[in-house]
Amino acid sequence: MKQSIRILVVEDENDQRQLIAQILSAQAYEVETADSVEKAILMIKERPPELVFSDWKLGQLSGMDLLRYVRREHTDMGFIIATAYGTITHAVDAMHAGADDYLAKPYQRQSLLLAIEKVVKSVALKKQNQQLVSQLSEQQSLIGLVGKAPCMQKVYQRVQRVSSTDATVLIGGESGTGKELAARALFQLSERKNTPFIAINCGAIPESLAEAELFGAEKGAFTGASQLKIGKLEAANGGTVFLDEIGELPLLLQTKLLRFLQEGVISRLGQQGEIQLDVRVIAATHRDLQQEVKAGRFREDLYYRLNVVPIHMPPLRDRQEDIGRLIEHFLVMHSKQYRAHPEPLSSHAKKTLLDYHWPGNVRELANRIERFVLLGDEQELIEELNNPAPSTSIDGFTLPQEGIEWESFEKQCLQQAMTRNQGNRTQAAKFLGLSYKAFLYRLEKYQLV
Ligand SMILES: Nc1ncnc2c1ncn2[C@@H]1O[C@H](COP(=O)(O)OP(=O)(O)OP(=O)(O)O)[C@@H](O)[C@H]1O
Ligand SMILES: [Mg+2]
Repeated sequence: MKQSIRILVVEDENDQRQLIAQILSAQAYEVETADSVEKAILMIKERPPELVFSDWKLGQLSGMDLLRYVRREHTDMGFIIATAYGTITHAVDAMHAGADDYLAKPYQRQSLLLAIEKVVKSVALKKQNQQLVSQLSEQQSLIGLVGKAPCMQKVYQRVQRVSSTDATVLIGGESGTGKELAARALFQLSERKNTPFIAINCGAIPESLAEAELFGAEKGAFTGASQLKIGKLEAANGGTVFLDEIGELPLLLQTKLLRFLQEGVISRLGQQGEIQLDVRVIAATHRDLQQEVKAGRFREDLYYRLNVVPIHMPPLRDRQEDIGRLIEHFLVMHSKQYRAHPEPLSSHAKKTLLDYHWPGNVRELANRIERFVLLGDEQELIEELNNPAPSTSIDGFTLPQEGIEWESFEKQCLQQAMTRNQGNRTQAAKFLGLSYKAFLYRLEKYQLV
């Protein structure tokens, strides 16, 4: 850790300066030295160190002059001042002026190292906190994504962190939570932003055409292939491909995709050789891919290949504080789009929108607001939203034709019960008609505790 820490030692006595530099270098600090305030300022301007260790008395000027300069320009740079024996008032002045610590001469090697170590730590902490504060207070949106709930901040941080890399990203989350928007934001922030972004909805291509669509086909590769077809992956060469609804990809194609992700090569249908591609992959799905793997519908190795960096888009009900912001956003957006001037919402309507649990997430909210802007009918806007809670009796409940994923269903029931009851477990248990013990057991089972 010490390797990356640079310390500027400012001392006008040659022997002293060399000695201090030696002691610090032996601890693997990166040391630079200056013999005057002027020189130190030039060096700080050129390449600011993490910490300055300065003598008080430095020719015409003093360590205080340097300290004032540092505090003006670099609030979080560490600063330790060495004062002569018997000049404690100097030390006090320096601390008032913002020095992090002082050493009274003569000092032991050990006290020098201790003081440095302490200040290095506090500087690192200061920086970390500042980053956190600025991230939390500033990031209200990210390229199209509106929202500043803590769970969205996490999304922004992750998107920003991985945007500069070529790492494969898998975006999960319920329908309408903004998965596609997040993928586009990632692309916009990446170095590939001026190269192609090709979105493929894996669920929308008929299985028989999917291979040619993705990987391309040579002329005559199958009946009807009258000319060479370039696949979407090849078309995205040099750019980014967005594999939307990746959970719907047929198993056979999963194998081919895996090969592409592992080796970076594809073969067109009917092609003998292979083509090397340079494509960044972002995938998204509303399904729980781990469940899909368990059920044998998704290749486990492909899942791991895709899941290098997972990003989870939180459901709207988990970021209720963003609903107001989103309403405003869509009102402005659609009013511009339709050149409409809708009446302001009544407080009853606002409250209804805020209290609703939005199973269709942001998309559902956006659609409702769009309709409201067009029709200006507040009644319709909040229609059916007044009674979001399911009826307590589920007599007459029928399973869907295609069956359900029991565990995912149960997990969602538990999560929703917790959200609706503001995290109060006793109430959530009652809400589901379970004993507290039975409820807790299930929370633990799904690691929701
Ligand atoms: N945080 C957000 N801020 C602004 N608009 C959003 C946000 N999240 C989603 N939207 C809007 O909601 C709609 C749905 O978003 P998107 O298509 O990205 O969701 P999705 O997760 O891909 O949904 P699906 O699983 O249904 O495909 C879009 O119109 C999008 O612009
Ligand atoms: Mg989508």
